[in-house]
Amino acid sequence: MFNKLTAMPADPILGLLTKYREDNHVQKVDLGVGVYKDETGHTPILSCVKKAEKYRLDTESTKVYIGPTGSADFNRLMSELAFGTENPAIMANRVRTVSTPGGTGALRVAADFIKRCNPNAVLWVSDPTWANHTGLFEAAGITVKTYPYYDYKTKSLKFDEMKAALSQVGSNDVVLLHACCHNPSGMDLNQQQWDEIIALTVEQGFTPLIDMAYQGFGDGVDEDAYGVRKMAASVSNMILCSSCSKNFGLYRERIGACSIIGKNAAASDIAFSVLLYVVRCIYSMPPAHGAAIVETILGSEELKQEWLDELTVMRDRINGNRTMLVNKLKEIGVTRNFDFITHQKGMFSFLGITPAQVAQLQSEYSVYMVDSSRISIAGIGTGNVDYLAKSIAKIL
Ligand code: LMR
Repeated sequence: MFNKLTAMPADPILGLLTKYREDNHVQKVDLGVGVYKDETGHTPILSCVKKAEKYRLDTESTKVYIGPTGSADFNRLMSELAFGTENPAIMANRVRTVSTPGGTGALRVAADFIKRCNPNAVLWVSDPTWANHTGLFEAAGITVKTYPYYDYKTKSLKFDEMKAALSQVGSNDVVLLHACCHNPSGMDLNQQQWDEIIALTVEQGFTPLIDMAYQGFGDGVDEDAYGVRKMAASVSNMILCSSCSKNFGLYRERIGACSIIGKNAAASDIAFSVLLYVVRCIYSMPPAHGAAIVETILGSEELKQEWLDELTVMRDRINGNRTMLVNKLKEIGVTRNFDFITHQKGMFSFLGITPAQVAQLQSEYSVYMVDSSRISIAGIGTGNVDYLAKSIAKIL
């Protein structure tokens, strides 16, 4: 049975983890996988998470099945965090949410749900998009096509081309948008551009699927949800996939959420029954531990404030790293303009070098990044920025 298989290449992002760990270079730099790191290169457990976890361990009294929806409290609090408590879609009881195994689990649930809504739906993703989007949706049997998004030459958005492409998308299709901190480019829509895309969505009638994996890493929890909230208030159908991996630092707990919005409460109930069926067929029920931590934090004024403060520290550090790298490159005499890195948002930017230069950085300097030259900004620190900038200068 297995003899006909050919080996798959290592995942373009996760494969870097293994290579980096096996590298003995004392100055090796990890700009690969999108995880937050502190100044020492460590990915800490947030203090609010530690407190919530202790509280749950002390008070938890059963490990009985949780059911396909997951935790009702988590689902409500996550919806409110994403859409805002006053959102017309929430007020009209049109939002339905399930807890999922991470943001990837949420996307897979969304994929199977879309397949049941319309087996012939095309999913439109930005060019470029997160490396796993295409494979994940194709695995669910969905055709994936791209719309223009990032201009590698000018390091800015191809906004007019994006709009032109989306104005050809029909009402049977789905358009995937990144809520904030676009992965991999770091180029986000501004509020005016969101307004235009939302108007286009309403006009064309396609279903928006918004992927929000980095709420709070761009400008702030509320600011980063601008597009999500306005879209939810404007359209009759919408899907939102969110992740708690980055903003709660719960990477290995695998906790996220998938929300759907129907045109009214009755339509949402029907859609929700399909969503639950989809969940049951994939993994039956989500894990509970991560959801318990998040609902404890979001449900307590004190812990929520502590979380917001810790999130601000992470966001500020990443933004500081952007400036630090660009200044260091200038300081050592690099003439190529990297200022665009300081205007982009979230965990990632493209350095804008060739795959051959990326390979050279890895083989000669032990600097690790995705082939596309996507760098995870959190991997930069005062301890490695000098070495990193000099390595980049050499390969340029
Ligand atoms: C990334 O893009 O690096 C993260 O979202 C981790 C992953 O699963 O790819």
